[in-house]
Amino acid sequence: MIERTARELIRSRYAVALTGAGFSTESGIPDFRGPSGIWSKNPEAERMAYISYEHFLENPKSWWEERLTGPSLLGDLERAMPNPGHYALADLEKIGILKSVITQNIDGLHEKGGTENIVEYHGSILKLRCAVCSARFHRDEFDLAKLMRDNLLPPHCPECGSIMKTDVVLFGEPIPSDVVRKSLEKVQKCDLMLICGTSAVVYPFANLPRMARQRKLESFAMPETGPYSGKGSPDVIIIEINADPTPLTKEGLSDYLIQGKTGEILPKILEEVKKLKK
Ligand code: OAD
Ligand code: ZN
Repeated sequence: MIERTARELIRSRYAVALTGAGFSTESGIPDFRGPSGIWSKNPEAERMAYISYEHFLENPKSWWEERLTGPSLLGDLERAMPNPGHYALADLEKIGILKSVITQNIDGLHEKGGTENIVEYHGSILKLRCAVCSARFHRDEFDLAKLMRDNLLPPHCPECGSIMKTDVVLFGEPIPSDVVRKSLEKVQKCDLMLICGTSAVVYPFANLPRMARQRKLESFAMPETGPYSGKGSPDVIIIEINADPTPLTKEGLSDYLIQGKTGEILPKILEEVKKLKK
């Protein structure tokens, strides 16, 4: 299957990777729904996460104070390092095979690992985003501890003066429109989708593979010629790399699953691609 994936990657014109929390477990960051997942071990934390956005809207000052004083659910993300899976995707991009990564992860590890074209679907813990104009800034540009000491929370947007939140998308918060647009563009164009380390149960992200699959089905119902022609709409190969089967596997939405660890399988795929390309 590794060889098959390598061949399909070489043949593809626009391959994208979709990643989730399972991708970062080998960097020491827990996932959410695996056996040691944050939500699996602490359902109360999941319940609290569902009301966090409401809390932010009602009282951004108290929301920020809680963020800055409470324990981090994901541990010390700033110190986490990319794993061989991150480097393998970055190398596949460097050799021109992978065109983009769309990740649900907020840990910034794809960027640290060297991938350039990244859509952070659920935002980044390393950035702040204006709740009104969506301008993003690196977290270091704000002295959040000082703002708290001086009773000046929440931080305000340098562009428009509105209230800032973390860039991380909270439950119930709309996905920022630039992110929706960029990911839809890529899903429309892709002819190979590599879905790695995600349970694919959180929407709207989980719709992306469904849309890629649907695109081909819709093209059958379209005229042969003219502006609405479905001709030329590329078929898509959907491959999962995951520790366990997911709803995409069970529904037959993915073509096949390579079951195992992304940090072990992706470097093997990269090696195979390099060997075959020689
Ligand atoms: P999940 O925790 O739901 O799924 C992680 C998947 O990765 C599971 O199917 C694991 O079996 C698998 N897995 C774990 N380690 C792996 C490894 N080394 N190699 C391959 N697979 C592995 O995480 P996500 O699907 O990313 O949302 O969760 C989606 C969203 O739910 C998150 O972005 C977060 C959460 O609530 C927000 O924060 C808005
Ligand atoms: Zn703003």
